[in-house]
Amino acid sequence: MIRVRGMRFEDLTLGLRLKQRAGWNQTPADWARFLSLQPDGCFVAELDGEPIGTVTTCGFGPVAWVGMMLVEPHRRGQGIGRALLTRALEFLEAKGVRSVRLDATPMGEPLYLSLGFVPQFHLARLEGELHDMGEAAGVEAGRRDDWDSAAQLDAEVTHTDRRPLLFELFRERPGELRVVRRGGAVVGFLTTRRGARALYVGPCLATKEAGPLLLSDVCRRHAGKFAFVDVPLGNAFALSWLKRHGLYEQRQLLRMCRGEPITECVDQLWASSGPEKG
Ligand SMILES: CC(C)(COP(=O)(O)OP(=O)(O)OC[C@H]1O[C@@H](n2cnc3c(N)ncnc32)[C@H](O)[C@@H]1OP(=O)(O)O)[C@@H](O)C(=O)NCCC(=O)NCCS
Repeated sequence: MIRVRGMRFEDLTLGLRLKQRAGWNQTPADWARFLSLQPDGCFVAELDGEPIGTVTTCGFGPVAWVGMMLVEPHRRGQGIGRALLTRALEFLEAKGVRSVRLDATPMGEPLYLSLGFVPQFHLARLEGELHDMGEAAGVEAGRRDDWDSAAQLDAEVTHTDRRPLLFELFRERPGELRVVRRGGAVVGFLTTRRGARALYVGPCLATKEAGPLLLSDVCRRHAGKFAFVDVPLGNAFALSWLKRHGLYEQRQLLRMCRGEPITECVDQLWASSGPEKG
């Protein structure tokens, strides 16, 4: 019998095991962040008492993200993914969420389509070693008093108030926040975090002028490291910049939405914050 229950901190080992089997990049810090951002909205599926699947949600007022849909490989195709997603959607509906979003792998796509998600656009997962391109003039260390301005830029680009997520990312790794300012306001920002397989570069939201500067800066600061970056195909400039500098496409993800359509200004989205939160 399939039973879906709330996720607890003790389920971290299950989450880590499942994501490792899927070859994903998340760390214990990522799982802890999912739970701290939405403690009542992350779920585990059990089959006859054995935990075998996960899903996380993260609400930003009327918009929410679904992530970490993972089922033990030998238990797939038995309705466990559907049970997890149905529970997550019921939870979000009860909270009054009007738009549910996610980044789908080809494996997840049929399930999401069958539950009412609509395709929006593709992102390329780029990977490769970062190479020093020299100093990027105009990029500075982000300070605490840049956070609100960065969040305002983020809201203009994503049409979502993602402050809880952004402030958590900035707080966890303050030295990683890099910004470009014009007249006191942030016109571009970028941060990174450690991953199990590669440095994760993103989110990076910026104007056309600030985006390449922030990418150059991250290449210089993390030269020699292997990195992942998720870039919307609609931001052709970001894609070609990264490919010219040695990164290559590993796979694609499909951004989808269920309910009221909402989308980003992709030309200002240089790197997503990750498949779990856009
Ligand atoms: C995606 C995933 C979570 C689905 O879990 P699952 O328990 O296998 O899903 P379900 O058994 O509930 O199947 C749901 C739907 O998926 C589709 N599906 C499941 N297995 C399938 C298969 N082998 N071939 C094609 N479609 C399949 C069907 O549309 C199915 O609909 P149905 O209920 O009408 O048959 C699971 O395959 C997984 O962990 N994949 C690896 C990680 C991943 O890519 N996650 C998605 C991230 S966005």
